[in-house]
Amino acid sequence: MPAQESNKVVTLQHPSGATAKVSLFGATVTSWISNGIERLFVSKDAILDGSKAIRGGIPLVFPIFGTKAHIPLPQHGFARNSYWDYLGILTDNDEVAVRFSLKDNQLTKDQRQSWPHSFRLVYTVTLTATQLKTYLTVKNEDSDTMEFNTLLHTYFRVKDIANVSVEGLSSYTFADKVAGGATSVENRDKITIAEEVDRVYQDVQDHLQLNTGDGQKLMIDKSGMKDTVVWNPWIEKAQGMGDFGNEEYHEMICVEVGSVAQWVHLEGGQTWTGGQTISIA
Ligand code: BG6
Repeated sequence: MPAQESNKVVTLQHPSGATAKVSLFGATVTSWISNGIERLFVSKDAILDGSKAIRGGIPLVFPIFGTKAHIPLPQHGFARNSYWDYLGILTDNDEVAVRFSLKDNQLTKDQRQSWPHSFRLVYTVTLTATQLKTYLTVKNEDSDTMEFNTLLHTYFRVKDIANVSVEGLSSYTFADKVAGGATSVENRDKITIAEEVDRVYQDVQDHLQLNTGDGQKLMIDKSGMKDTVVWNPWIEKAQGMGDFGNEEYHEMICVEVGSVAQWVHLEGGQTWTGGQTISIA
């Protein structure tokens, strides 16, 4: 079978040998192996029992990014902390695609009170020989307009952060969360990481390139999403996270496509789609 569920994890298998795993908890992609190489980072200390968002893979941020004073939801919203329904395989040709769904009636009473909207999320994860595609559809099932943020919080596995760079963000404005949200314009063609980095690049082009430092290149093509966050916790933040090894900041970088700098406004009855295709060059 190209996709099967066991113990709340769906495993995708492509005839090329590529595989992916998606936990029903958060519909979090926790593994993507292509050409025999694991491309995603999951912390050795990640908590996988559903009591906390998974530290690694692709947690799905919805309906808020960070925290919002007027919306009493936990950081990054409820999607990454909820069990999603597995809808099964969508296609089965050159690609293996599986879908997951989350509706407002699957939330806790507190979550529904904090974000009182009727909605349906459908998340499609598609595996090809050399690509992973993750696309989210949001359907507003109310008659009023809904506002949300969403982001694919992708943790990429790298050999050594010292040799990693991200291309495609030059000349874009970013909010620097390490500097209290101060905005600046990026002037580097290749963004490298040598300290804590937590930047929200705003309204950026759809094509990015991640050089993982070991000769491998990943192309990240987003669609329907405006912004890109680049995050590495570096030494002190790593030490402060109970579900992240002290030295693991060397082995990961988050490049997170999303719409987070501004609210997405979705009118009643309407559907929004956004996502990313990650390709091995
Ligand atoms: C990033 C944010 O997207 O997620 C960071 O920009 C945040 O500020 C990071 O620290 C991790 O968040 P969390 O809730 O998974 O620890």
